[in-house]
Amino acid sequence: MDVEKREQPIGVFDSGLGGISVLRACVELLPREDFLFFGDSANAPYGEKTLEQVRSLTVQSIDGLLAQGVKAVVVACNTATSAAIGLLRERHPAVPIIGIEPAVKPAAQARDSSSVIVMATPLTIHEDKYQKLAAAFRDQANVISLPCKGLAEMVEKGILEGPELDAYLQELLLPFRYCSVEYIVLGCTHYPFVRRAIRKNFGRPVEIIDGSGGTARQLKRQLAARELLTTRRGHGSVVFRNSDPDKLPMSRALFQMEY
Ligand code: DGL
Repeated sequence: MDVEKREQPIGVFDSGLGGISVLRACVELLPREDFLFFGDSANAPYGEKTLEQVRSLTVQSIDGLLAQGVKAVVVACNTATSAAIGLLRERHPAVPIIGIEPAVKPAAQARDSSSVIVMATPLTIHEDKYQKLAAAFRDQANVISLPCKGLAEMVEKGILEGPELDAYLQELLLPFRYCSVEYIVLGCTHYPFVRRAIRKNFGRPVEIIDGSGGTARQLKRQLAARELLTTRRGHGSVVFRNSDPDKLPMSRALFQMEY
């Protein structure tokens, strides 16, 4: 057991600010750990880039976090996970690297579920990883994949409510006005910050779920299995870094925000 190693921080990465929704779930479950969050807002959105671009930006960001001495990495971005998780694990076989994927399973397997909308970036939906995931549950529910071009960008700009967002969501969700849909899966870590606007503009009762809780639990399991959980008492710290330093005040605000 490496005593020093388990007192190192946990790195959490996203293309921008969205991963802060996952960071929150991780801090809630593991309050004694130290966390170092890196958002690559200067290069966001990833979900509308090519696979090669996302791979290279993700590798660069994760290498940067590891160079700062993190003991584990959470890739708190569905797009980066679908593009690069295999590559990252090959590059860093000794490091626990936890990814996130759209929570299709709990939505499709829920007893009352017949139709599930999965909101995600165009790249996540295009990638094999998601296509296989959606196909695996097609006999349990009607899985409707909904690429949301531009939505992560609005969150990056701090547009979390208001007429521009309402108009965008109404147009996006219009085709489902008369379908029976029981679940909306937020398959991009930016979207929990506009959960209220999604609910309002969907206009009917619907369960809205995301993958942050499952990712936090997976992080805890991985750290426990490798004896990497901190043994310190008291609250750990949360440090924010961003490739666009102007985003740091908003990072702290999103971390505190009710949504
Ligand atoms: N937050 C990212 C995700 O979970 C993507 C946002 C972006 O397009 O950069 O997919």
